[in-house]
Amino acid sequence: MLKYKISKLKVSNFRNLDCEQIIFSPNINCIFGENGNGKTNILEAIFVLMTGKSFKKNTSFPQLLSMDCGKPEILFSSIFQDEVSDNTLSYSLKLENKLSLIYLDGEKSKKRPNLSVVFINPFDSYNFYYTPSFKRNWFDTHIGIIDKVYRKNVNKHQKSIKFRNILLTKKTPKYREQIEAIDVEIAKLSKEITSRRIEFLSSIQDYLQDTFKQIFSQDLHLSIHLESKFIDYSETQILEYFKKSLPKDEILCHTGYGIHKDDYVLQINGFNAYDYCSLGQQKMSYLCLLFAYIELFRYKLNTYPVVLIDDVSGELDEFRWQLLIDYLSKCQFQVLITTANEKFRDQLEKINDVNKILVISGEVTNL
Ligand SMILES: Nc1ncnc2c1ncn2[C@@H]1O[C@H](COP(=O)(O)OP(=O)(O)OP(=O)(O)O)[C@@H](O)[C@H]1O
Ligand SMILES: [Mg+2]
Repeated sequence: MLKYKISKLKVSNFRNLDCEQIIFSPNINCIFGENGNGKTNILEAIFVLMTGKSFKKNTSFPQLLSMDCGKPEILFSSIFQDEVSDNTLSYSLKLENKLSLIYLDGEKSKKRPNLSVVFINPFDSYNFYYTPSFKRNWFDTHIGIIDKVYRKNVNKHQKSIKFRNILLTKKTPKYREQIEAIDVEIAKLSKEITSRRIEFLSSIQDYLQDTFKQIFSQDLHLSIHLESKFIDYSETQILEYFKKSLPKDEILCHTGYGIHKDDYVLQINGFNAYDYCSLGQQKMSYLCLLFAYIELFRYKLNTYPVVLIDDVSGELDEFRWQLLIDYLSKCQFQVLITTANEKFRDQLEKINDVNKILVISGEVTNL
C-alpha cells in the first residue's frame, strides 16, 4: 500500500467540473460552495481516480461524463506526494466508455497505483442503522480491506450459501447429499469468519471509545458487539445446527439462518443506538466508527487512507462541529471536507493552515 496523499488534480469532462488545477494540502482541505455547484463531484472525481469506480451506486461512465463534453473521454492528471520521503507520483488516467488508460510517472501502466481512500457520506449513517444488509455489507467490506483472508472467506461463504439455496429450491436428485457436503464447508467458514469478526470488533473497540470521547461526549460510553448464534459454537456444533435446521430450510426453500444474517450492535451506555439514540447521536457514533476504522487501518497497514468527508454538518450542533473540527485538525491523515453550510464554513475557516477551495457552477478555485 502506497503512503501518498493527493497534492494536485486536473480533471476534464468529469460531471460539471471545470478546473485548471486544484491544489490540496496534506492536512485539511475544505471545499465550499452552494448546493448543486460541484463539491461532491470533486470528491467523486478523486474517488474514481483512486479506486477506478464511483462511490455512488450503479454509476458508470455515461453518468460521469460531462454533458457538455466535446469528446467522450474523461481525463485526470494528478500528483500524489509522500510527505515523509518527499517522493512524488504523477498519475494520469483517461477514461473512455469501455477503456481506461493509466500512466504512472509518464509510463503506461496496466494497473492503478495501490492508493487507499475512504469516503464518508452523511446519508450512510441512516442506511447503517435502518438497512441491516447495508450494515452487514459495511463490516464485510471494511474488515475485508484490512484482512484479505476474511474477504476471501466471505466470498466463498456467499457462494456456498447461494448454491445451498439453489439446492433447497430445486431439490434435484441427491440434493440432500450435496447439502451435507456443502454444510461441512459452510461450518468451517462460519467459524473462521465469526472469529475474525470478533477479533476486528475487539481491535476497533478502544479506538471507538477514544474517538467518541473526543468528538462527542466525555460522559457517554460507546461500544460495539456482534449478535450471532454461533459466537461460542465450535465448527462441529455449527455443522450440527445446519443438520438440525435442514427440514425447516427445506420448507423455506432457503437457508433460514447463517452468519450472513448476523448483526452488529452499537451501544451508547449499554442502550442500543438504533432504538434509543437521537439522530445526532446515531450520526456521531457512525462517524466515530469510521474514524476508529481509519486508525485501525493505519495500525494494520502502516498508512492512512485519504479521507473524503461529504457535508456531515446536518443534525450536529455547533459545539459538536467544533469538536469534530478539533479532532480533524489533530489528525495525521489528509482530509477533504465539503460543506454548503455558511456557519460550519465559518468554523472550518478558522482552522490553522486550512486549505480552502471554492466551487461555483463547477468552476473550482483555490482561495
Ligand atoms: N454528467 C454530468 N454533466 C454535467 N453536469 C453534471 C453531471 N452530473 C451531475 N452534474 C451536475 O453536478 C451538479 C451537482 O454537483 P454536486 O453533487 O457536486 O453538488 P454539491 O456542491 O455537492 O451540492 P450539495 O451541497 O447539494 O451536496 C448538479 O448541478 C448537476 O447538474
Ligand atoms: Mg454534495
